[in-house]
Amino acid sequence: MSYDNLIVKREGSVAVVTINRPDKLNALNAATIAELHRAFSELRFDAGVRAIVLTGTGEKAFVAGADIGELAALSGTELEKTAELGQSLMWKIENLGKPVIAAVNGYALGGGCELALACTFRYAEHGAKLGLPEVGLGLIPGYGGTQRLPRLIGRGRALELILTGRLVSADEAFALGLVDRVLPGDELMKTARETAATIAGRSLLAVRYALKAVNEGLNCGLDQGCRLEAAIFGTVGASDDAKEGCRAFMAKRPPEFRDR
Ligand code: CAA
Repeated sequence: MSYDNLIVKREGSVAVVTINRPDKLNALNAATIAELHRAFSELRFDAGVRAIVLTGTGEKAFVAGADIGELAALSGTELEKTAELGQSLMWKIENLGKPVIAAVNGYALGGGCELALACTFRYAEHGAKLGLPEVGLGLIPGYGGTQRLPRLIGRGRALELILTGRLVSADEAFALGLVDRVLPGDELMKTARETAATIAGRSLLAVRYALKAVNEGLNCGLDQGCRLEAAIFGTVGASDDAKEGCRAFMAKRPPEFRDR
């Protein structure tokens, strides 16, 4: 499948998706959002892909936000539709059933930060800068940032970033819990690929259900979340992969998972 604004490469069981609009710092115009929707739908159902790394072209930016030039021309109704399209992409990535690792190389601002927030976790290079600067444009975050950021780092810290529009360094983002690892630039993709390959070697069934337990559990209370976990534990535990994993442990050999 070909794309104008993305590069999608298969590297064994890992796919690397690179947003490729370097002249606009990889800003998410409508065409790029549509291509990301298409790419992630394909990756979801591609049985050969077990983990994904998402990054931006060049050394300057992961994604510098939604395309401001496009937003400026839209009516209120069109902006609402744009937000819903972006939000459904974020939901698709968050609930893909496979890990999506954001490799944040440079600016991850506005919609770019929101894209990273929707990923399973975030690795950032030392020089990365993250933030939600939308209020400075007279806007608010529209791709889920007002919802995911407070859930991730807490209400007060999220509001401080959202209301000031202040950008944070990779180190501060790590201290806030906004990114999960900070790496030298030349190690970012290598480490993201290694982590993706490690997860790709697990039972995809167990990975998918672990993601489901965490994502759905975060949307409900502790009691309900623990009941969900027990139900999923039963489902996964009855799978061939669980039997194989336990048998392999007892026999002191590596497991051979079949994703069922
Ligand atoms: N949309 C459209 N074009 C963008 C862009 C964006 N979000 N960010 C950068 N660009 C373009 C610039 O207009 C410029 O294009 P030209 O060369 O054609 O003029 C090119 O990318 C390079 O950018 P700069 O010259 O600005 O580069 P810089 O190094 O001086 O600054 C920057 C880098 C600090 C990231 C700056 O580009 C910037 O502040 N970008 C906008 C960040 C932003 O406000 N993002 C939020 C967007 S709104 C949003 O995302 C809403 C939502 O939640 C859905």
